[in-house]
Amino acid sequence: MTTALTADAGTLDGEAMFDALIEADGRIEPRDWMPEAYRRTLIRQISQHAHSEIIGMQPEGAWITRAPSLKRKSILLAKVQDEAGHGLYLYSAAQTLGITRDEMTQQLVDGKARYSSIFNYPTPTWADMGAIGWLVDGAAICNQVPLCRASYGPYGRAMVRICKEESFHQRQGFEILLTLMQGTEEQREMAQDAVNRWYWPSLMMFGPPDDDSPNSAQSMAWNIKRFSNDDLRQRFVSMLVPQAAVLGVTLPDPDLRFNDETGQYDMGEIDWTEFHEVLAGRGPLNTLRRQHRREAHEEGAWVREAAAAYAAKKNAARTQTAAA
Ligand code: 3HC
Repeated sequence: MTTALTADAGTLDGEAMFDALIEADGRIEPRDWMPEAYRRTLIRQISQHAHSEIIGMQPEGAWITRAPSLKRKSILLAKVQDEAGHGLYLYSAAQTLGITRDEMTQQLVDGKARYSSIFNYPTPTWADMGAIGWLVDGAAICNQVPLCRASYGPYGRAMVRICKEESFHQRQGFEILLTLMQGTEEQREMAQDAVNRWYWPSLMMFGPPDDDSPNSAQSMAWNIKRFSNDDLRQRFVSMLVPQAAVLGVTLPDPDLRFNDETGQYDMGEIDWTEFHEVLAGRGPLNTLRRQHRREAHEEGAWVREAAAAYAAKKNAARTQTAAA
């Protein structure tokens, strides 16, 4: 359908075609005309998402050498590698919109680009690997499954694969917590402590409340976002309650209770001051996370230079052969 509706770039027909595609819940592809604001919104969201995956390798990467068994180590290693892969698919999707990978990386290391608030919290115990998998990847799935239907083709397609891998991440986190909860008293306390620390920040991952979310209305009108921040947060909590019961952990919200009238869980007030502090760069580990990313980028400069020199040499050889 998308191909049939493709229009020439820059013409009025292009705008009409874009509107028709959105109206028909079709897909916009890189070759299609799109409003500049749509392009900018996608670059903003996809690059932030990519940065989140890349920075998100740090909190768990810190536990690869300290995982309690060979099996746990290989699972964690695979998970962290998956995050790197997600970052790369997403950078590629953003590149189709006209921004380069170098520009995006520079924005991140210069502190000009956002990444998810959640990755600015520390991981002091092994149970944090369980809580991240269960809560952080669980929240990521809730938020990202609807993005598989995002109107921009390359983003939606990248999300399909990412979501499959996130499901495995969520289950491995749940299983770590379940194992700890079936262990000693000390292990149960460690699991509960990690859940206490990650629960509220995981709810903040969905973004500000709907009445304080400047981008939501337009993103939903363009079929990029399919549900509002609050709707997805609500869906996530409803998913967590029965799972917490199976685990035997308590969700640290004394106001959490089922409301018979609404058919949903009422929850306590999220500390939005903390959220805004983290977004302003004043979370527990913002400085360290960016510093590590910057150092890795600088230390990798020789690899990029070598790869570029090799590609140039190959191209020159190819041109020479073609000219001969
Ligand atoms: N952390 C950091 N910034 C956040 C945020 C969060 N949790 N929630 C919202 N923001 C920012 C927005 O980016 C926006 O900033 P900007 O206008 O300067 O770009 C501002 O707060 C206002 O929020 P809005 O609700 O208006 O913004 P959006 O409409 O973009 O919604 C979002 C925010 C729901 C996070 C949306 O961008 C989204 O769905 N993004 C894709 C998913 C994503 O990026 N997830 C990050 C986690 S990835 C992950 O968890 C990896 C996995 O392996 C665990």
